[in-house]
Amino acid sequence: MNSYIKKYTKKELIEDTGRVSWTSPSNIALIKYWGKHGKQLPCNPSISFTLNESKTTMDFSWSIKDGGKDEIVLDFYFENKKNEAFENKIRKFLEDNFELFPFLKYLSLEIESTNSFPHSAGIASSASSMSALALGLCTIEDQAFDLNQSEEEILDKATYIARLASGSASRSVFPGIVSWGKSDLEDIKSTDEKAATVEGIADVFKTYQDSIVIVDAGEKAVSSRAGHALMEAHPFRDVRFKHANDQLALLVEVMKSGDVDQFCEIVETEALELHGLMMNSSPSYTLMRPNTLAVIEKIRAFRSETGLPICFTLDAGPNVHILYPESIKNEINEFMINELTPLAQGGLIIHDKVGSGPERFL
Ligand code: PMV
Repeated sequence: MNSYIKKYTKKELIEDTGRVSWTSPSNIALIKYWGKHGKQLPCNPSISFTLNESKTTMDFSWSIKDGGKDEIVLDFYFENKKNEAFENKIRKFLEDNFELFPFLKYLSLEIESTNSFPHSAGIASSASSMSALALGLCTIEDQAFDLNQSEEEILDKATYIARLASGSASRSVFPGIVSWGKSDLEDIKSTDEKAATVEGIADVFKTYQDSIVIVDAGEKAVSSRAGHALMEAHPFRDVRFKHANDQLALLVEVMKSGDVDQFCEIVETEALELHGLMMNSSPSYTLMRPNTLAVIEKIRAFRSETGLPICFTLDAGPNVHILYPESIKNEINEFMINELTPLAQGGLIIHDKVGSGPERFL
């Protein structure tokens, strides 16, 4: 029996109404989750930086509803406007996982969601929004039924729930450097069901900046969901999953030792491997745009000229995440303004950094 499934009666509700509010960040993977099986379980472990500025704020209000029907009563607003597309997506998620949310039999929900980053920036918002949703649901349960759980218990359930909504969202529940997926490594405490903070990482990586060069803000031609599915029959499937495990082990060693140069090498190889997998899928596709490669070449040239530990990674999209320690922020800023702004759509570069995780306001 799943320990996250609890049974309630309407009589156990301690209040008729309540409010909860969370802000939860996005994250950028260094070793990528690409390919899944079963109920949102990853084919290989991944590791990411939780971000600081790119985040979703979700305000939840709940009230007792009439009767005790299984149907979900939900009103969803995105950036102050009713949004039926998101509402239906969330309703379907709640219905599909109703056994985890039996309290929704007695409660109706209103959710207002806003993102800190511009809607049109082409930044994936599923990690920040689905982790905020999971945190909100777990807190409502705790508050409405007076469960008195510790913060640790709430986060532990929230990472599990967030994963079911969007795999990478499981990592956004925790601050700093986070893994998700099973690994034999001693420092990796995550499982395939839940993410966990990676301990023992050198301090320099906690100062890392992530400047996101927006190369193309348009909608992706192939969704992440379709990309994961194409890994099922991928010719390099087994090699990839083995390599991702090996790369993760190497990266953890390097991040513990504080070797910023080796970090650059592993992270870039991994980003290009992700896009290589897309190009070798059947059907094949590319999400990089010409300016994605132009930015990558500029970064590599700048690194070899200056010796500075600046590197890039890519999400499942065309935008380039530039990673570097805070100590070289001024040099990198100058380089970005001079060399990269002309390659960004509308000159847009969003500055983010490793962050301290979700925050509860109510
Ligand atoms: O969580 P999803 O299903 O949106 O997939 C995320 C996939 C990548 O962003 C490419 C990699 C990752 O680990 O975040």
